[in-house]
Parts: sequence; C-alpha cells; structure tokens
Amino acid sequence: MNKYLIKKYDILDSTNLFALREFANFPDGTIITAQRQTAGRGRMNRSWLSEGKGLYFTIVLKQAKKTEFYSSFSHLLALSISKVLLKYGLKASIKWPNDVLCSSEKFSGKLGKISGILAQASTDTNGLNGIVLGAGINCTQTEVDFGSLLYPAYSIAMLTKLEFSKDTLLKNVLDIFFEFKPSFEKYGFASIYEEYISNCNFIGKEIKISTSSGKEMVKAVEINKDGTLSVLRSGKLEKIEAADILP
Ligand code: BTN
Repeated sequence: MNKYLIKKYDILDSTNLFALREFANFPDGTIITAQRQTAGRGRMNRSWLSEGKGLYFTIVLKQAKKTEFYSSFSHLLALSISKVLLKYGLKASIKWPNDVLCSSEKFSGKLGKISGILAQASTDTNGLNGIVLGAGINCTQTEVDFGSLLYPAYSIAMLTKLEFSKDTLLKNVLDIFFEFKPSFEKYGFASIYEEYISNCNFIGKEIKISTSSGKEMVKAVEINKDGTLSVLRSGKLEKIEAADILP
C-alpha cells in the first residue's frame, strides 16, 4: 500500500512555493496539487504556464536518511512520469536531468517536452529539512498554447486521442513513484540507474548545453551512478551536476 496524502487546491501561486511555506505542517509524502497556478515556476528561474490545461503537483519529501539522495529524487519522478506516458502509448524519453520528452509521427518524429520537474530545498538554521519536488505535465494544451517556447512542447491531447483524467494521471504517477521510494531512500539513484538510462537517448551524442558559464557543445559520455552527467569538454572528461540540454 503506497503512502501518500493528496491535498487539492483550486488555485495557488505555485504548488512548490506553497509546499515550502507550509513545509513544517506537511508530513513526508504529502502531495499538493492545484487546478491553476498564478506564479508557476520552472528551472533556471523560468515561469511555467499554469492556466489550467496541465497537471501541476508537488511532493513533500523529508525522510531521506542520506541527504545527498535528495538531489536525484527528481530523476525518479521523471522516470515515473515517463513510465506512465509509455503506458498511455506515448514514446517518452528522459532528457537529463529530469525533462520528459515525447516524439510523435504526427510531428515528424520531432522530440518535444511534455513534462518538467523543479526540485527546491527546504532549509532553516539547522540546515536541510527536505525538498519539494514539483512537476507539471502538459495535458490538454494545443499548439497555439505553446507558441513562443524555447523548446518544442507537446501535451498528451496533442499526441493521443486517449481519454484520461488528471486525477488518474496523478495517481498513476504517484503509485510508481511511491513504489520505488523505499529503495530509493536506501540506495539513491543507483536503485533506478539501469531503467533511467534505458529511457535516455542522447548518450554518445554531441549535445548543446547551457550552464552558469554559458552555452557550449560537448559530447555526452555517460550518466553516473550519483545522477550527474559526464561529458567530454575540449577533450577533457568532466562531471556536470546541473545544466540544460538545448534543442
Ligand atoms: C521545468 O521544466 O522548468 C520545471 C517545471 C516545473 C513546473 C511545476 S508545476 C508544479 C510545480 N509548481 C511550480 O511552480 N513548478 C512546478
């Protein structure tokens, strides 16, 4: 029996920000979901369009024995989402660290983002208390809704005629996430490593990345057991902890 409690809201500024504000009051495994967000946030300080056509939720995590595992819980959520999308008949893959992409014949096999994840730490004077792990999954948007985005984006409705409810989608994702959670808390990213990398399709390729030091081309060599990415940068092997892989 998976242990999580879902708290539903009609409108919030951001499920992540709300979970951070109320962090002390929510037990481990609390899920916050909102129909709409007025200040939905993405990685790299971007905003996340949250006008009601997507699923928006945040998982409160505060029990990991090894705090270094917190940084890769987002990989577990990306894997859980891609497993559900595969079940829905969509060709999902993970773009390290935690974007979920899909490709479709309908769009000439071109990859587009269908889900993104934002992990944020909850800290106080005693240090790290845990994290909030927020995900947005595009559900009923059309091409018009995604007009001006940096990366091509799809919604589930753009790729399949499948009837689905956001509640069921959320439950499907959480069931997988919470099934893996106990072993993830013990062994970290290593516990899902094989399955995660089998969902990544950019390893061995030249990729364009954006890091705090700018944009550059590197060769993706491998994803490591701690969730970082090893790349060849000007002939030198280097480990990267955070970056955006650009289209
Ligand atoms: C990204 O790809 O940049 C991450 C997007 C994360 C969006 C979700 S929606 C639910 C949660 N609340 C937020 O404000 N952000 C995350």
